[in-house]
Amino acid sequence: MKLSLKSRNKLRNKLRGLIQRCASERLKRYLWNAEFSGGRWDFIYKTPNDCIYPYIEKYANGGSILDLGCGTGNTSNEIPVTVYADYTGVDISDVAVAKAIKRSLDNGRSAKNRYLRSDFATYAPNGQFDLILFRESLYYLPPANVEPTLERYSKYLKPGGVIIVRLCDWSGKCRPIVELIEREYEVVDQHLADTRAADSTMVGIIVFQRRSRSRCLPGSASAEQDGGQSSQHEPSFNA
Ligand SMILES: C[S@@+](CC[C@H](N)C(=O)[O-])C[C@H]1O[C@@H](n2cnc3c(N)ncnc32)[C@H](O)[C@@H]1O
Repeated sequence: MKLSLKSRNKLRNKLRGLIQRCASERLKRYLWNAEFSGGRWDFIYKTPNDCIYPYIEKYANGGSILDLGCGTGNTSNEIPVTVYADYTGVDISDVAVAKAIKRSLDNGRSAKNRYLRSDFATYAPNGQFDLILFRESLYYLPPANVEPTLERYSKYLKPGGVIIVRLCDWSGKCRPIVELIEREYEVVDQHLADTRAADSTMVGIIVFQRRSRSRCLPGSASAEQDGGQSSQHEPSFNA
């Protein structure tokens, strides 16, 4: 039986998605390296004015940023250098990391920006951060691992720190991630961008932090003291 071109592409995409989420670290790295070397991601090599940047500026707090799935260093080279003190980018692809390092050198940011080649499914940071970022990378985890991974990384937030997630196809394939975040975390900011994509998918940004103890334990002493309103940032939603 001969498959049509459309069916072959569909099959190839399914296999690619499966490898990106579920394969061994080595196989994932091989695939991402091949894609970065082959130019598949050249179209996002530079993203000035991305809709996520105002949120990074707002929540970086002049402090430490951890960027999981940092790619070729867009965020660390495009946000104003003054809005953060130090930046750690983690990516599974050596090719992406090499490009990010070169870009930071060229931009005179190598004192602030550092990059590590690692799988964020297992990476263990050695510090605390004001802002942890998953910019178009969280959905490369198997769906069942999204919640434990967010929970694990949220322990590396400084008091008042936030996680920011950027997701394409907000209302489609990424909807379960949005719903999980809304259910489990204190959402402090949210933004939907009209990208005018041909397939009319929407990009969304969600900023959140761990629920305060008082929210988790209604009736606890701290809940009674602050009326359950001890979140570090006032919620605001921009649609
Ligand atoms: C769509 S690109 C986004 C890159 C960058 N965040 C940006 O927005 O420009 C996804 C990135 O996530 C990285 N990635 C995917 N799975 C990963 C994993 N398990 N651990 C670390 N990085 C991963 C890829 O290598 C790739 O650079």
